Amino acid sequence: MTNNNKVFQKGYWEKNRKRRMPWHPVIEAFVCPKIDLIKSTLSFSEDTKVLDVGCGNGFFGYYFSKFCDVTELDYSRYMLSRNPCNSLVQGSALSLPFKNDTFDIVFCSDLLHHIKHPIIALREMKRVSKKFVILSEPNRNNPFMLLFSMIIREEHGTVKFSLRYMKGLVQLCGLKIIASCTMGSIVPNKTPLLLLKWFQKIDWRTPFGFTNVVISHKWKGTGHFVFYHRYSQELMVNPSRSA
Ligand SMILES: C[S@@+](CC[C@H](N)C(=O)[O-])C[C@H]1O[C@@H](n2cnc3c(N)ncnc32)[C@H](O)[C@@H]1O
Repeated sequence: MTNNNKVFQKGYWEKNRKRRMPWHPVIEAFVCPKIDLIKSTLSFSEDTKVLDVGCGNGFFGYYFSKFCDVTELDYSRYMLSRNPCNSLVQGSALSLPFKNDTFDIVFCSDLLHHIKHPIIALREMKRVSKKFVILSEPNRNNPFMLLFSMIIREEHGTVKFSLRYMKGLVQLCGLKIIASCTMGSIVPNKTPLLLLKWFQKIDWRTPFGFTNVVISHKWKGTGHFVFYHRYSQELMVNPSRSA
């Protein structure tokens, strides 16, 4: 393993971190709008193979497992021991233990800002994906998120994570962007349950939301890229220019 591929913050994730379980109402309110966005953009069947990289205790995997075939990967044994999904793999995002083109979709939430060289992990995600790579990371343009990331050492990586930075990373990797947005007023382990109803009322898409989401395609051809939108049934993007 080269120095660049060493797992950063490894000890931090093996400790007993205070995390809610995926079925907690606040987690459901945090995850489901993102899952809805993904389902409205891409088609799924029970056989669609999804890899959830840096899955933690399964906030997203738990919901993906209700409608597709999800594999959960994380470096931390502790996190995996608290993950309710069936298919669990211990491994590093920097060197994924899968062959090229193994999954239809590779999904990754709140991991890249914890990695020194996110591009290495993103290249690995592209390698093991047949078609799509989806990223969801905190938005540094949200003032609370920026403050939090400046105070907590392990969150310092968030300082560069704007939507623009994420789109740049994706494009640098040669992926084509299908959809991207900033959304959300809920922070999974911090939003108090008692205030959830109020936060849900302002859970909009806005440039100051807590989370950036980028959905991209591993498109290998040249010339025009056409993407058939599932619901509108239109040709959605023509990214010789990306979204
Ligand atoms: C903030 S948590 C996010 C968990 C989950 N994806 C979510 O959205 O709730 C980051 C996770 O990434 C894992 N992680 C950190 N570095 C990793 C690496 N290099 N390879 C695999 N997992 C890693 C940690 O163990 C932790 O579970």
